Amino acid sequence: MACYCYMLECANGKYYTGWSTDPFRRLTQHNSGLGARYTRMNGPSRLVYVEEVPDHSTALKHEIRIKRMTHSQKAALVADTSRNILPRLQENLQTKHANTKSFKILSPARVNLLGEHVDYNDGVVLPAAIDRYATLNVEVLDEPVVRLRAEDLNAEAAFALENLAGKQDLNGQPLPAFALYPAGVAWALQEAGLPLRGLTVRYSSDIPIGAGLSSSAAIEVGFALAWQIAGGWEIPRIELVKLCQKAENEYVGVKSGLMDQFACAFGTARHALALDTRSLDWQTLPLPKDVAIVIADSGVRRSLANSAYNDLRADCQEALERLRAWCSSLTSLRDVPMQFLEAHLHELPEGPARRALHVVGEMARVEQAIACLVEGDIAGFGAQMVDTHASLRDLYGVSCPELDLLVELAVSHPACFGARLTGAGFGGCTVNLVAQDGVEDFVRWLKAAVREKSGREVPIEVCQAVDGARLAD
Ligand code: GLA
Repeated sequence: MACYCYMLECANGKYYTGWSTDPFRRLTQHNSGLGARYTRMNGPSRLVYVEEVPDHSTALKHEIRIKRMTHSQKAALVADTSRNILPRLQENLQTKHANTKSFKILSPARVNLLGEHVDYNDGVVLPAAIDRYATLNVEVLDEPVVRLRAEDLNAEAAFALENLAGKQDLNGQPLPAFALYPAGVAWALQEAGLPLRGLTVRYSSDIPIGAGLSSSAAIEVGFALAWQIAGGWEIPRIELVKLCQKAENEYVGVKSGLMDQFACAFGTARHALALDTRSLDWQTLPLPKDVAIVIADSGVRRSLANSAYNDLRADCQEALERLRAWCSSLTSLRDVPMQFLEAHLHELPEGPARRALHVVGEMARVEQAIACLVEGDIAGFGAQMVDTHASLRDLYGVSCPELDLLVELAVSHPACFGARLTGAGFGGCTVNLVAQDGVEDFVRWLKAAVREKSGREVPIEVCQAVDGARLAD
């Protein structure tokens, strides 16, 4: 099997040297936080050098030799095209991609364990990608047109890549709502100067729509990946994530934060992701093997959720602006200590005051919850979840009786460490952390308890944390 020594250029400008049988796959691992401590602390990295060597033992020795070189010797190696075969490999890859006529993409849902409504206030969030997927069957076309078939909705739409800003289909009619997500992604990629191919995409999803599990981010990231593969270009994944957010913010019109698209793109099997939405630093945190993630769907959907979400965001902005009268250096609610907020609370209008109280409290809860997860204190983590639910209900106003009932019942079961609504709220799902050995009983019991209290059947499913959006085999 071919062996390669490779060098990555890390975000701090330094080189990282390693060896692998597949340097491209290894790069993805490094950038997912699973490669090495050094690249996790200093990522994201980019592949700058690949040299083929005959076998493992030569690779190991050569790796040590390169590691001992000075920075400028390494830079010279990168520039030496007689040894650095990366440009050639990339070219081959591009040709392969350019010839790819059809492929399939899996793009996962996200569940947020903690850190709700803080991603547009510069806070830290703790989501994971889960094993519910949007599946895209993609065919690359020679004409600059995108043809969509959303199987679950039994709906079709087609639009031209030349007229994305018009939000119109090929007949000049306004694009239906479901088509705005792919069209928005195409628009954002085009705005960034990336070349787009025409596509036919048949897609379906087992992520419930409007249920707080980021069905729209899964579609956005899935389509962005489809255009990347069809076009044979590469950009850092975080840039792809930001462009998907731009599509949602500016094309669809929901002023969401970065969390959903990030989790969908960077998900890591068996791990939660701790993303600092201010610095974009992130790390993966292993989830305990003996704890299951259980999702319970309240079945409630609110049609005006998007405008309500934007209103909440505006309340946070208003709170910040008013607080700046006493401290002009504040740039987001992340900067606001609880004591300072409490001292000025009575001077804020009620809505912004309540939103700010939630956001500042939630940021502290996330910090504590991360410490609990690192120490393996799942009961402590669960307690933060329960507090978050209360805060979302009482201060943020995004819960509903159906969600409150699900949480209240869940936490009374002995196997449940914690439960809360997940995602934006206004209905949707709860996330529950449950001891693995009690999970079957928990699911059966919760279904029966909800039935007894409300006469309703609720879908409850056990999920796994999985890797982010990818080409299916
Ligand atoms: C939605 C948004 C996210 C985030 C959550 C609430 O899912 O898309 O950016 O704000 O709500 O935490």
